[in-house]
Amino acid sequence: AAVVEHTFVVSQVKMTHLCNETLVTVVNGQFPGPAIEVTEGDSVAVHVVNKSPHNLTIHWHGVKQRMNCWADGVPMITQCPILPNQSFTYRFNVAGQEGTLWWHAHVSFLRATLHGALVIRPRRGSSSYPFPKPYMEIPIIIGEWWQMDLFKADWGIKQHKIDAYYTASTINGKLGDIYNCSGAVEDGYKLDVEPGKTYLLRVINAALFAEYYLKIAGHKFTIVAADANYVTPYTTDVIAIAPGETVDALVVADAAPGRYYMVALPNQSPKPDPQSPVLITRGIVQYSNKQKPGNGVEHPSFDIPVSPEMPDQHDLMPSFYFHGNLTSLVHHPQRPRVPTRVDERLFITLGLGSICRQGHSSCGRSESDDSLIVATMNNVSFQQPALEMPLLEMHYYNPDRVATMLQELPNKPPMVYNYTDPALIPLGPKEAKLEPSSEATVARRFRQGSVVEVVFQGTALLQSESNPMHLHGHDVFVLAQGEGTYDAGRDAARYNLVNPPIKNTVHVPRLGWVALRFVADNPGIWYMHCHFGFHLSMGMLALFIVEDGRTVGTSLPAPPADFPTCGHDHKLMPT
Ligand code: C2O
Repeated sequence: AAVVEHTFVVSQVKMTHLCNETLVTVVNGQFPGPAIEVTEGDSVAVHVVNKSPHNLTIHWHGVKQRMNCWADGVPMITQCPILPNQSFTYRFNVAGQEGTLWWHAHVSFLRATLHGALVIRPRRGSSSYPFPKPYMEIPIIIGEWWQMDLFKADWGIKQHKIDAYYTASTINGKLGDIYNCSGAVEDGYKLDVEPGKTYLLRVINAALFAEYYLKIAGHKFTIVAADANYVTPYTTDVIAIAPGETVDALVVADAAPGRYYMVALPNQSPKPDPQSPVLITRGIVQYSNKQKPGNGVEHPSFDIPVSPEMPDQHDLMPSFYFHGNLTSLVHHPQRPRVPTRVDERLFITLGLGSICRQGHSSCGRSESDDSLIVATMNNVSFQQPALEMPLLEMHYYNPDRVATMLQELPNKPPMVYNYTDPALIPLGPKEAKLEPSSEATVARRFRQGSVVEVVFQGTALLQSESNPMHLHGHDVFVLAQGEGTYDAGRDAARYNLVNPPIKNTVHVPRLGWVALRFVADNPGIWYMHCHFGFHLSMGMLALFIVEDGRTVGTSLPAPPADFPTCGHDHKLMPT
């Protein structure tokens, strides 16, 4: 195994789209940032040099970071941020993982432009894929172009003061099919293919705001992996991918040589604001003319591309089926088995609520009051603790103090009702006030090795979307999903304990539920949150703390010697 090194220089650059010059924070001047390509078992060292004015961390989304929570990249939870003009080297390995992951900034909304692919190939080369060796591998990163300042957008959403929205959707940083001020179409992403060849698309949803439907006119996808875990090959003409998820799909260039649109359409049901535009982006798959001379095929670049027929933007059923059709590949030797014993069960509702902050006297009295709308789990919205050192360092040096800072995440909401009946919430969360919400630094502790089952229950409070729930440091088995309110007596019988898909980001269907199981075997403090940027910034987040084990090699090692400091003395450290 090798050590793969990268240098990430983070800086602000000006980029122009739609006739507007925008200052964006990027790695090595690129949007999306550079791809990290490694082989399973390799070590990775990424030297992050912060030339931006922001405090930064980078999270390696889906990398399990076994015994290495220090490298997880969550500001003030696992590390002090990298301050402007400072640098830090993230070191981690990718043992036991294969497929498509990605990396992104974990500060405010910065990940909108600070992200890239992390591709892990099998040790014996691409010929050892459990599917036909592709001719080429292509990352397809779906993202957003923001003209609004990302910190301002984040703040505006937290305070519920401004309507923050992205300007356009992107494929590999290209807007595509959107007119600029002079009436010219912005370039879209172009993929050149050779007839008859097979391509492996490594699709990543790096967007903050939307789940997408992805289609290529005239072509089908064979899904072979999701979240860097192989799945039973599944053929579909549409990919549904929520923020944080990855999908590996084979595409055979077997259509008539020509040009075909690749369309990414954000889905949402119902549309929150009828005025907001449908921000689709179109790329083009074009067949090259490198065919035997004389076969009569013209160079196709002037053809009008063929358009795919997209699902309705407000129809979330294609996403429900897409996610429900994934099963893990039984024949793969590395596939872990689903634990049958369960040590802890959690039932977590996802919702919105309103809270009154201290000193806001008019709170809750009228429409124009000072209450804040927050995103919740079991009616608690996460409150960032005020810390002078990262929580994980405190946990390492002074665990008793950590205990005083946290509240236990309840394992069910304070009130039980029919969570998904839209009639119960006719007016939206603020007026409905089904249950009072609160703010706290909520966490859940697990003994190392315990098997945890979580049911995420969507609620009618979240009217328009499904929720991609991401757990750091672990993969989880997704046992079942369903519509409506979860019923243990009925729904546990439907669990797939044989070949459930293994994911790091779990899609909770709109007005439905999902059940998952994981082994809490990686000591540390791990984020568990919705990967929608606005839900995360509104507090749909909790900490999962996995305790140290009792045997050698099962406790968290010391922090790296060159770990960033927060800029003042760490009084709590032992001398
Ligand atoms: Cu990709 Cu905490 O996130």
